[in-house]
Amino acid sequence: MARRIVIFDTTLRDGEQAPGASLTPPEKVEIARQLARLGVDVIEGGFPIASPGDAQAVKLIAQAVRGPVIAALARSLPKDIEAAAAALAPAKRKRIHVFLATSPIHRKYKLRKARAEILRQAVWAVTYAKRYAKEIEFSPEDASRTEPEFLHQVLEAVIRAGATTVNIPDTVGFAIPSQFGALIQGITQQVRNIDRAVISVHCHNDLGLAVPNSLAAIANGAGQVECTVNGIGERAGNASLEEIVMTLSIRKDFFKAVTGVDTTQITATSRLVSTLTGLIVQPNKAIVGENAFRHESGIHQDGVLKHAKTYEIMRPGDVGLGKSLLVLGKLSGRHAFSQRLRGLGFRLSKVEMDRAFARFKSLADKKKEIFDADLVAIVEEDLPAAQEIYKLAYVHTASGSDTVPTATIRLAREGRILEDAATGDGPVDACYKAINRLTGVTPELVDYTLQAVTKGRDAQGEVSVKIREKRVEVTGRGTSTDIIEASAKAYVNAVNKLLSSTTRRAYLGRRSAPHP
Ligand code: KIV
Ligand code: ZN
Repeated sequence: MARRIVIFDTTLRDGEQAPGASLTPPEKVEIARQLARLGVDVIEGGFPIASPGDAQAVKLIAQAVRGPVIAALARSLPKDIEAAAAALAPAKRKRIHVFLATSPIHRKYKLRKARAEILRQAVWAVTYAKRYAKEIEFSPEDASRTEPEFLHQVLEAVIRAGATTVNIPDTVGFAIPSQFGALIQGITQQVRNIDRAVISVHCHNDLGLAVPNSLAAIANGAGQVECTVNGIGERAGNASLEEIVMTLSIRKDFFKAVTGVDTTQITATSRLVSTLTGLIVQPNKAIVGENAFRHESGIHQDGVLKHAKTYEIMRPGDVGLGKSLLVLGKLSGRHAFSQRLRGLGFRLSKVEMDRAFARFKSLADKKKEIFDADLVAIVEEDLPAAQEIYKLAYVHTASGSDTVPTATIRLAREGRILEDAATGDGPVDACYKAINRLTGVTPELVDYTLQAVTKGRDAQGEVSVKIREKRVEVTGRGTSTDIIEASAKAYVNAVNKLLSSTTRRAYLGRRSAPHP
Protein backbone atom coordinates (compact mmCIF):
# COMPACT_ATOMS: atom_id res chain seq x y z
CA MET A 1 0.00 0.00 0.00
CA ALA A 2 1.26 3.45 -0.91
CA ARG A 3 2.17 5.76 1.98
CA ARG A 4 0.44 9.14 2.14
CA ILE A 5 2.97 11.99 2.22
CA VAL A 6 1.84 15.20 3.91
CA ILE A 7 2.52 18.27 1.78
CA PHE A 8 3.34 21.24 4.00
CA ASP A 9 3.41 24.36 1.87
CA THR A 10 5.53 27.21 3.16
CA THR A 11 5.28 29.51 0.11
CA LEU A 12 3.63 32.19 2.24
CA ARG A 13 6.25 32.00 5.00
CA ASP A 14 9.67 30.76 3.85
CA GLY A 15 8.79 31.40 0.19
CA GLU A 16 7.95 34.99 0.95
CA GLN A 17 11.39 35.34 2.55
CA ALA A 18 12.79 35.26 -1.01
CA PRO A 19 14.56 38.53 -1.72
CA GLY A 20 12.19 40.86 -3.54
CA ALA A 21 9.05 38.86 -2.80
CA SER A 22 6.66 40.61 -0.52
CA LEU A 23 2.98 39.83 -0.43
CA THR A 24 0.15 41.87 1.02
CA PRO A 25 -2.31 40.09 3.33
CA PRO A 26 -5.04 39.94 0.62
CA GLU A 27 -2.50 38.51 -1.85
CA LYS A 28 -1.56 35.88 0.69
CA VAL A 29 -5.21 34.96 1.11
CA GLU A 30 -5.59 34.63 -2.66
CA ILE A 31 -2.60 32.29 -2.84
CA ALA A 32 -3.82 30.34 0.21
CA ARG A 33 -7.18 29.77 -1.49
CA GLN A 34 -5.39 28.44 -4.54
CA LEU A 35 -3.19 26.22 -2.34
CA ALA A 36 -6.37 24.76 -0.88
CA ARG A 37 -7.62 24.05 -4.42
CA LEU A 38 -4.25 22.48 -5.16
CA GLY A 39 -4.87 20.13 -2.24
CA VAL A 40 -1.89 20.76 0.03
CA ASP A 41 -2.32 19.42 3.57
CA VAL A 42 -0.80 22.29 5.54
CA ILE A 43 -0.44 25.98 4.66
CA GLU A 44 2.13 27.89 6.67
CA GLY A 45 0.64 31.37 6.43
CA GLY A 46 3.45 33.38 8.04
CA PHE A 47 5.47 34.28 11.07
CA PRO A 48 3.04 36.43 13.09
CA ILE A 49 5.56 37.97 15.50
CA ALA A 50 7.65 39.20 12.55
CA SER A 51 5.25 41.95 11.48
CA PRO A 52 1.66 43.12 11.92
CA GLY A 53 1.12 42.34 8.23
CA ASP A 54 2.18 38.73 8.73
CA ALA A 55 -0.06 38.40 11.78
CA GLN A 56 -2.98 39.84 9.83
CA ALA A 57 -2.32 37.57 6.85
CA VAL A 58 -2.31 34.45 9.03
CA LYS A 59 -5.52 35.58 10.68
CA LEU A 60 -7.24 36.28 7.36
CA ILE A 61 -6.16 32.91 5.99
CA ALA A 62 -7.35 31.21 9.18
CA GLN A 63 -10.73 32.88 8.70
CA ALA A 64 -11.11 32.35 4.98
CA VAL A 65 -9.48 29.08 4.04
CA ARG A 66 -11.03 25.74 4.87
CA GLY A 67 -9.57 22.32 4.17
CA PRO A 68 -5.85 22.43 4.89
CA VAL A 69 -4.39 22.85 8.37
CA ILE A 70 -3.22 26.45 8.83
CA ALA A 71 0.19 26.80 10.47
CA ALA A 72 2.11 29.76 11.88
CA LEU A 73 5.76 29.97 12.80
CA ALA A 74 7.13 30.96 16.21
CA ARG A 75 10.52 31.07 17.83
CA SER A 76 10.67 29.17 21.12
CA LEU A 77 9.66 32.30 23.01
CA PRO A 78 6.41 33.15 24.84
CA LYS A 79 5.61 36.28 22.81
CA ASP A 80 6.12 34.42 19.50
CA ILE A 81 3.95 31.49 20.54
CA GLU A 82 1.24 33.84 21.80
CA ALA A 83 1.28 35.84 18.55
CA ALA A 84 1.03 32.66 16.51
CA ALA A 85 -1.82 31.35 18.67
CA ALA A 86 -3.73 34.64 18.39
CA ALA A 87 -3.38 34.77 14.60
CA LEU A 88 -4.46 31.15 14.27
CA ALA A 89 -7.45 31.52 16.58
CA PRO A 90 -10.09 31.55 13.79
CA ALA A 91 -8.69 28.44 12.09
CA LYS A 92 -10.72 25.28 12.13
CA ARG A 93 -7.57 23.20 11.94
CA LYS A 94 -4.39 24.82 13.23
CA ARG A 95 -0.76 24.06 13.93
CA ILE A 96 1.86 26.04 15.82
CA HIS A 97 5.31 25.54 14.39
CA VAL A 98 8.06 26.30 16.92
CA PHE A 99 11.73 26.26 16.14
CA LEU A 100 15.05 26.52 17.94
CA ALA A 101 18.51 26.07 16.47
CA THR A 102 20.44 23.02 17.67
CA SER A 103 23.68 22.95 15.66
CA PRO A 104 27.04 23.76 17.33
CA ILE A 105 27.59 26.86 15.21
CA HIS A 106 24.15 28.31 16.00
CA ARG A 107 24.44 27.38 19.67
CA LYS A 108 27.84 29.04 19.99
CA TYR A 109 27.48 32.19 17.90
CA LYS A 110 23.80 32.92 17.51
CA LEU A 111 22.18 31.71 20.70
CA ARG A 112 25.20 31.50 23.00
CA LYS A 113 23.59 28.58 24.78
CA ALA A 114 24.80 25.17 25.81
CA ARG A 115 23.13 21.93 24.79
CA ALA A 116 21.27 21.52 28.10
CA GLU A 117 19.77 24.97 27.83
CA ILE A 118 18.63 24.35 24.26
CA LEU A 119 17.05 21.08 25.32
CA ARG A 120 15.18 22.77 28.18
CA GLN A 121 13.96 25.65 26.01
CA ALA A 122 12.74 23.33 23.25
CA VAL A 123 10.72 21.24 25.71
CA TRP A 124 9.34 24.37 27.35
CA ALA A 125 8.28 25.82 23.97
CA VAL A 126 6.41 22.71 22.88
CA THR A 127 4.71 22.42 26.27
CA TYR A 128 3.68 26.07 26.15
CA ALA A 129 2.43 25.90 22.54
CA LYS A 130 0.42 22.81 23.42
CA ARG A 131 -1.83 25.09 25.52
CA TYR A 132 -3.02 26.70 22.30
CA ALA A 133 -3.13 23.92 19.73
CA LYS A 134 -3.23 20.15 19.54
CA GLU A 135 -0.94 20.02 16.54
CA ILE A 136 2.56 21.20 17.39
CA GLU A 137 5.49 21.00 15.03
CA PHE A 138 9.01 21.38 16.35
CA SER A 139 11.99 22.27 14.11
CA PRO A 140 15.57 21.95 15.38
CA GLU A 141 16.95 24.62 13.08
CA ASP A 142 20.12 23.60 11.19
CA ALA A 143 19.39 19.96 12.07
CA SER A 144 21.58 18.62 9.27
CA ARG A 145 24.63 20.19 10.94
CA THR A 146 23.66 19.09 14.44
CA GLU A 147 25.43 16.20 16.18
CA PRO A 148 23.10 13.22 15.51
CA GLU A 149 23.01 12.01 19.11
CA PHE A 150 22.06 15.49 20.38
CA LEU A 151 19.46 15.78 17.63
CA HIS A 152 17.96 12.43 18.71
CA GLN A 153 17.90 13.58 22.31
CA VAL A 154 16.07 16.81 21.42
CA LEU A 155 13.56 14.98 19.19
CA GLU A 156 12.74 12.42 21.85
CA ALA A 157 12.23 15.15 24.45
CA VAL A 158 9.96 17.34 22.31
CA ILE A 159 7.84 14.37 21.28
CA ARG A 160 7.44 13.52 24.94
CA ALA A 161 6.35 17.14 25.49
CA GLY A 162 3.65 16.81 22.85
CA ALA A 163 5.17 17.58 19.42
CA THR A 164 3.09 15.83 16.78
CA THR A 165 5.49 16.55 13.92
CA VAL A 166 9.27 16.82 14.13
CA ASN A 167 10.74 18.70 11.23
CA ILE A 168 14.36 18.20 10.15
CA PRO A 169 15.55 21.35 8.41
CA ASP A 170 18.56 21.43 6.13
CA THR A 171 18.59 25.14 6.85
CA VAL A 172 21.64 26.06 4.81
CA GLY A 173 21.26 23.50 2.01
CA PHE A 174 24.37 21.63 3.14
CA ALA A 175 23.12 18.04 3.01
CA ILE A 176 23.84 15.43 0.35
CA PRO A 177 20.95 13.08 -0.55
CA SER A 178 22.48 9.78 0.63
CA GLN A 179 23.69 11.42 3.84
CA PHE A 180 20.36 13.15 4.47
CA GLY A 181 18.49 9.89 3.79
CA ALA A 182 20.75 8.18 6.36
CA LEU A 183 20.05 10.95 8.89
CA ILE A 184 16.31 10.30 8.54
CA GLN A 185 16.80 6.58 8.77
CA GLY A 186 18.88 7.10 11.92
CA ILE A 187 16.01 9.07 13.46
CA THR A 188 13.51 6.30 12.66
CA GLN A 189 15.85 3.81 14.38
CA GLN A 190 17.32 5.77 17.29
CA VAL A 191 14.53 8.03 18.55
CA ARG A 192 12.56 5.72 20.83
CA ASN A 193 9.16 7.46 20.65
CA ILE A 194 9.36 8.44 16.97
CA ASP A 195 6.24 6.37 16.21
CA ARG A 196 4.26 9.10 18.03
CA ALA A 197 5.22 11.86 15.58
CA VAL A 198 5.47 12.43 11.88
CA ILE A 199 8.97 13.05 10.56
CA SER A 200 9.09 16.08 8.29
CA VAL A 201 11.90 17.55 6.21
CA HIS A 202 12.56 21.11 5.13
CA CYS A 203 15.35 21.48 2.58
CA HIS A 204 17.00 24.56 1.16
CA ASN A 205 18.47 24.69 -2.29
CA ASP A 206 21.90 26.28 -1.85
CA LEU A 207 23.60 23.44 -3.73
CA GLY A 208 20.59 22.70 -5.92
CA LEU A 209 19.82 19.60 -3.82
CA ALA A 210 16.63 20.58 -2.01
CA VAL A 211 14.40 18.25 -4.03
CA PRO A 212 16.81 15.27 -4.13
CA ASN A 213 17.36 15.62 -0.37
CA SER A 214 13.61 15.75 0.27
CA LEU A 215 13.05 12.67 -1.88
CA ALA A 216 15.88 10.80 -0.16
CA ALA A 217 14.22 11.61 3.15
CA ILE A 218 10.86 10.29 1.92
CA ALA A 219 12.53 7.11 0.73
CA ASN A 220 13.96 6.72 4.24
CA GLY A 221 10.83 7.28 6.28
CA ALA A 222 9.86 10.97 6.23
CA GLY A 223 6.08 11.38 6.13
CA GLN A 224 5.91 15.13 5.49
CA VAL A 225 7.80 17.46 3.16
CA GLU A 226 7.96 21.20 3.43
CA CYS A 227 8.15 22.94 0.11
CA THR A 228 7.21 26.04 -1.84
CA VAL A 229 5.54 26.71 -5.16
CA ASN A 230 8.18 27.38 -7.85
CA GLY A 231 10.80 26.57 -5.19
CA ILE A 232 10.92 30.18 -4.03
CA GLY A 233 12.48 31.03 -0.67
CA GLU A 234 15.50 32.37 1.20
CA ARG A 235 18.65 32.62 -0.94
CA ALA A 236 18.46 29.83 -3.55
CA GLY A 237 15.03 28.86 -2.32
CA ASN A 238 13.26 25.86 -0.85
CA ALA A 239 12.39 22.47 -2.27
CA SER A 240 9.96 22.93 -5.12
CA LEU A 241 6.48 21.61 -4.39
CA GLU A 242 5.70 20.78 -8.00
CA GLU A 243 8.92 18.82 -8.51
CA ILE A 244 8.39 16.72 -5.39
CA VAL A 245 4.73 16.07 -6.09
CA MET A 246 5.27 15.16 -9.73
CA THR A 247 8.24 12.94 -8.91
CA LEU A 248 6.13 11.04 -6.37
CA SER A 249 3.33 10.81 -8.90
CA ILE A 250 5.37 9.78 -11.95
CA ARG A 251 7.68 7.48 -9.97
CA LYS A 252 5.06 5.88 -7.74
CA ASP A 253 6.66 2.59 -8.75
CA PHE A 254 9.82 3.66 -6.92
CA PHE A 255 8.58 5.68 -3.94
CA LYS A 256 5.32 3.83 -3.31
CA ALA A 257 3.95 7.06 -1.90
CA VAL A 258 1.10 9.39 -2.83
CA THR A 259 0.05 12.96 -2.02
CA GLY A 260 -3.33 14.63 -1.85
CA VAL A 261 -2.36 17.20 -4.47
CA ASP A 262 -4.53 17.74 -7.52
CA THR A 263 -1.68 18.03 -9.98
CA THR A 264 -3.88 19.68 -12.61
CA GLN A 265 -3.83 22.80 -10.41
CA ILE A 266 -0.04 23.07 -10.50
CA THR A 267 0.30 25.40 -13.48
CA ALA A 268 -2.38 27.79 -12.26
CA THR A 269 -0.79 27.90 -8.80
CA SER A 270 2.67 28.47 -10.20
CA ARG A 271 1.46 31.35 -12.35
CA LEU A 272 -0.44 32.97 -9.51
CA VAL A 273 2.57 32.80 -7.20
CA SER A 274 4.85 34.15 -9.90
CA THR A 275 2.51 37.01 -10.72
CA LEU A 276 1.88 38.06 -7.13
CA THR A 277 5.46 37.71 -5.89
CA GLY A 278 6.97 39.13 -9.09
CA LEU A 279 9.44 36.22 -9.12
CA ILE A 280 9.72 35.02 -12.69
CA VAL A 281 10.01 31.28 -13.25
CA GLN A 282 13.11 30.36 -15.24
CA PRO A 283 12.10 28.96 -18.66
CA ASN A 284 13.80 25.60 -18.15
CA LYS A 285 12.41 25.07 -14.62
CA ALA A 286 11.13 21.52 -14.27
CA ILE A 287 7.33 21.11 -14.41
CA VAL A 288 6.36 24.80 -14.55
CA GLY A 289 9.00 26.46 -16.74
CA GLU A 290 7.83 27.84 -20.07
CA ASN A 291 9.89 25.20 -21.88
CA ALA A 292 9.06 22.24 -19.64
CA PHE A 293 6.76 20.66 -22.23
CA ARG A 294 8.19 22.16 -25.39
CA HIS A 295 10.04 20.15 -27.97
CA GLU A 296 12.20 21.93 -30.48
CA SER A 297 14.28 19.28 -32.21
CA GLY A 298 12.72 17.83 -35.36
CA ILE A 299 13.45 14.27 -34.20
CA HIS A 300 11.73 14.87 -30.87
CA GLN A 301 8.76 16.58 -32.50
CA ASP A 302 8.30 13.72 -34.92
CA GLY A 303 8.51 11.23 -32.02
CA VAL A 304 5.99 13.11 -29.88
CA LEU A 305 3.55 13.33 -32.77
CA LYS A 306 3.84 9.58 -33.31
CA HIS A 307 3.55 8.73 -29.62
CA ALA A 308 3.78 11.35 -26.85
CA LYS A 309 5.56 8.98 -24.48
CA THR A 310 8.59 8.81 -26.76
CA TYR A 311 9.80 12.09 -25.28
CA GLU A 312 7.26 12.98 -22.58
CA ILE A 313 7.25 11.24 -19.21
CA MET A 314 4.19 13.21 -18.18
CA ARG A 315 1.42 14.81 -20.14
CA PRO A 316 1.04 18.58 -20.07
CA GLY A 317 -2.54 17.99 -18.97
CA ASP A 318 -1.25 16.25 -15.82
CA VAL A 319 -0.07 19.63 -14.53
CA GLY A 320 -2.95 21.62 -15.95
CA LEU A 321 -1.37 22.73 -19.21
CA GLY A 322 -3.50 22.44 -22.34
CA LYS A 323 -1.12 20.58 -24.60
CA SER A 324 2.55 20.23 -25.28
CA LEU A 325 4.01 22.87 -27.47
CA LEU A 326 5.98 21.84 -30.46
CA VAL A 327 8.08 24.92 -30.92
CA LEU A 328 8.51 25.45 -34.59
CA GLY A 329 11.98 26.64 -35.42
CA LYS A 330 14.69 25.96 -37.92
CA LEU A 331 15.14 22.37 -36.73
CA SER A 332 11.49 21.51 -37.18
CA GLY A 333 10.48 19.05 -39.80
CA ARG A 334 7.65 18.96 -42.31
CA HIS A 335 5.55 16.67 -40.13
CA ALA A 336 5.30 19.12 -37.24
CA PHE A 337 4.80 22.01 -39.66
CA SER A 338 1.93 20.40 -41.55
CA GLN A 339 0.32 19.16 -38.34
CA ARG A 340 0.30 22.68 -36.92
CA LEU A 341 -1.19 24.09 -40.12
CA ARG A 342 -3.97 21.51 -39.99
CA GLY A 343 -4.60 22.53 -36.40
CA LEU A 344 -4.94 26.11 -37.60
CA GLY A 345 -7.55 25.04 -40.15
CA PHE A 346 -5.46 25.10 -43.32
CA ARG A 347 -5.70 22.31 -45.88
CA LEU A 348 -2.97 22.80 -48.43
CA SER A 349 -2.28 20.89 -51.61
CA LYS A 350 1.15 19.30 -51.95
CA VAL A 351 2.41 22.18 -54.08
CA GLU A 352 1.05 24.80 -51.68
CA MET A 353 2.55 22.90 -48.76
CA ASP A 354 5.96 22.77 -50.47
CA ARG A 355 5.86 26.51 -51.01
CA ALA A 356 4.67 27.25 -47.48
CA PHE A 357 7.30 24.96 -45.98
CA ALA A 358 10.06 26.66 -47.98
CA ARG A 359 8.86 30.07 -46.78
CA PHE A 360 8.68 28.74 -43.22
CA LYS A 361 12.29 27.48 -43.39
CA SER A 362 13.54 30.78 -44.68
CA LEU A 363 11.67 32.68 -41.95
CA ALA A 364 13.04 30.23 -39.35
CA ASP A 365 16.55 31.17 -40.40
CA LYS A 366 15.83 34.75 -39.40
CA LYS A 367 13.63 34.11 -36.41
CA LYS A 368 14.17 31.69 -33.53
CA GLU A 369 10.58 30.75 -32.75
CA ILE A 370 7.75 30.62 -35.21
CA PHE A 371 4.35 31.21 -33.64
CA ASP A 372 0.89 30.43 -34.96
CA ALA A 373 0.43 33.99 -36.16
CA ASP A 374 3.62 33.63 -38.21
CA LEU A 375 2.21 30.53 -39.82
CA VAL A 376 -1.06 32.19 -40.71
CA ALA A 377 0.94 35.03 -42.25
CA ILE A 378 3.09 32.57 -44.21
CA VAL A 379 0.10 30.74 -45.65
CA GLU A 380 -1.99 33.79 -46.38
CA GLU A 381 0.91 35.55 -48.03
CA ASP A 382 1.36 32.62 -50.33
CA LEU A 383 -2.23 32.64 -51.49
CA PRO A 384 -2.64 34.72 -54.62
CA ALA A 385 -4.49 37.97 -54.41
CA ALA A 386 -7.81 38.04 -56.22
CA GLN A 387 -5.91 39.77 -58.96
CA GLU A 388 -2.33 40.36 -58.07
CA ILE A 389 -1.71 43.11 -60.56
CA TYR A 390 1.42 44.40 -58.88
CA LYS A 391 3.87 42.49 -56.76
CA LEU A 392 6.45 44.14 -54.55
CA ALA A 393 9.85 43.09 -55.90
CA TYR A 394 12.23 45.44 -54.09
CA VAL A 395 12.15 48.11 -51.46
CA HIS A 396 14.98 50.30 -50.27
CA THR A 397 14.70 53.30 -48.01
CA ALA A 398 17.12 55.84 -46.65
CA SER A 399 16.24 57.97 -43.65
CA GLY A 400 17.82 59.52 -40.61
CA SER A 401 17.94 62.77 -38.66
CA ASP A 402 19.88 64.62 -41.42
CA THR A 403 18.50 62.77 -44.43
CA VAL A 404 15.43 63.43 -46.53
CA PRO A 405 13.49 60.15 -46.31
CA THR A 406 13.71 58.47 -49.71
CA ALA A 407 12.33 55.19 -51.01
CA THR A 408 13.17 53.20 -54.11
CA ILE A 409 10.50 50.70 -55.09
CA ARG A 410 10.39 48.02 -57.75
CA LEU A 411 7.07 46.43 -58.67
CA ALA A 412 6.60 43.44 -60.93
CA ARG A 413 3.72 43.53 -63.38
CA GLU A 414 3.11 40.87 -66.01
CA GLY A 415 6.76 39.88 -66.09
CA ARG A 416 8.06 43.44 -66.25
CA ILE A 417 9.87 45.29 -63.48
CA LEU A 418 8.89 48.90 -62.90
CA GLU A 419 11.07 51.11 -60.73
CA ASP A 420 10.66 54.55 -59.22
CA ALA A 421 11.77 56.57 -56.22
CA ALA A 422 10.18 59.26 -54.09
CA THR A 423 10.77 61.31 -51.00
CA GLY A 424 8.29 61.67 -48.16
CA ASP A 425 7.68 62.71 -44.55
CA GLY A 426 9.19 59.43 -43.44
CA PRO A 427 10.37 56.19 -45.05
CA VAL A 428 6.86 54.69 -45.14
CA ASP A 429 5.37 57.81 -46.68
CA ALA A 430 8.18 57.82 -49.25
CA CYS A 431 7.38 54.19 -50.15
CA TYR A 432 3.70 54.96 -50.58
CA LYS A 433 4.47 57.94 -52.82
CA ALA A 434 6.75 55.81 -55.00
CA ILE A 435 4.06 53.12 -55.26
CA ASN A 436 1.50 55.78 -56.24
CA ARG A 437 3.77 56.96 -59.04
CA LEU A 438 4.29 53.42 -60.30
CA THR A 439 0.63 52.36 -60.18
CA GLY A 440 -0.96 55.63 -61.20
CA VAL A 441 -3.37 55.70 -58.26
CA THR A 442 -3.34 58.33 -55.54
CA PRO A 443 -5.57 57.02 -52.81
CA GLU A 444 -6.05 58.66 -49.45
CA LEU A 445 -4.45 56.72 -46.58
CA VAL A 446 -7.31 56.39 -44.11
CA ASP A 447 -5.71 54.16 -41.57
CA TYR A 448 -2.31 52.60 -40.84
CA THR A 449 -1.61 50.17 -38.01
CA LEU A 450 1.51 48.26 -37.17
CA GLN A 451 1.60 45.42 -34.71
CA ALA A 452 4.00 42.68 -33.80
CA VAL A 453 2.24 39.44 -34.62
CA THR A 454 4.80 37.49 -32.66
CA LYS A 455 7.06 38.08 -29.66
CA GLY A 456 10.70 39.07 -29.34
CA ARG A 457 13.18 41.27 -31.11
CA ASP A 458 12.89 39.22 -34.27
CA ALA A 459 9.09 39.45 -34.28
CA GLN A 460 7.20 39.68 -37.53
CA GLY A 461 5.48 43.01 -37.97
CA GLU A 462 2.07 43.09 -39.53
CA VAL A 463 0.91 46.27 -41.16
CA SER A 464 -2.72 46.91 -42.02
CA VAL A 465 -3.68 49.86 -44.15
CA LYS A 466 -7.00 51.25 -45.26
CA ILE A 467 -7.01 53.35 -48.40
CA ARG A 468 -9.82 55.23 -50.10
CA GLU A 469 -10.28 56.44 -53.64
CA LYS A 470 -13.48 57.72 -55.17
CA ARG A 471 -15.48 56.51 -52.20
CA VAL A 472 -14.14 52.98 -52.57
CA GLU A 473 -12.42 51.85 -49.40
CA VAL A 474 -10.22 48.77 -49.20
CA THR A 475 -7.80 47.34 -46.70
CA GLY A 476 -4.45 45.71 -47.28
CA ARG A 477 -2.13 43.67 -45.14
CA GLY A 478 1.55 42.80 -45.24
CA THR A 479 3.90 40.98 -42.91
CA SER A 480 7.65 40.89 -42.67
CA THR A 481 10.38 40.99 -40.08
CA ASP A 482 11.17 44.40 -41.64
CA ILE A 483 8.42 46.89 -40.87
CA ILE A 484 9.13 49.07 -43.93
CA GLU A 485 8.76 46.04 -46.16
CA ALA A 486 5.58 45.04 -44.31
CA SER A 487 4.25 48.57 -44.84
CA ALA A 488 5.01 48.49 -48.57
CA LYS A 489 3.49 45.04 -48.97
CA ALA A 490 0.31 46.14 -47.19
CA TYR A 491 -0.02 49.15 -49.44
CA VAL A 492 0.57 47.19 -52.66
CA ASN A 493 -1.95 44.65 -51.45
CA ALA A 494 -4.56 47.38 -50.92
CA VAL A 495 -3.80 49.00 -54.28
CA ASN A 496 -4.29 45.64 -56.00
CA LYS A 497 -7.69 45.36 -54.37
CA LEU A 498 -8.57 48.83 -55.43
CA LEU A 499 -7.67 47.98 -58.98
CA SER A 500 -9.33 44.57 -59.06
CA SER A 501 -12.97 43.80 -58.63
CA THR A 502 -12.80 40.62 -56.53
CA THR A 503 -11.42 40.56 -53.04
CA ARG A 504 -8.78 38.31 -51.61
CA ARG A 505 -10.91 37.74 -48.54
CA ALA A 506 -13.47 35.84 -50.62
CA TYR A 507 -10.71 33.61 -51.90
CA LEU A 508 -9.42 32.95 -48.39
CA GLY A 509 -12.93 32.18 -47.22
CA ARG A 510 -13.10 29.30 -49.68
CA ARG A 511 -9.60 28.03 -48.98
CA SER A 512 -9.59 27.65 -45.20
CA ALA A 513 -11.21 24.44 -44.05
CA PRO A 514 -12.66 24.14 -40.55
CA HIS A 515 -10.63 22.67 -37.73
CA PRO A 516 -10.53 18.84 -37.86
O1 KIV B 1 15.20 26.77 7.14
C1 KIV B 1 14.81 26.61 8.31
O2 KIV B 1 15.49 26.05 9.17
C2 KIV B 1 13.49 27.13 8.63
C3 KIV B 1 12.93 26.72 9.96
C4 KIV B 1 12.26 27.84 10.62
C5 KIV B 1 12.02 25.54 9.77
O3 KIV B 1 12.87 27.77 7.82
ZN1 ZN C 1 13.68 27.45 5.80
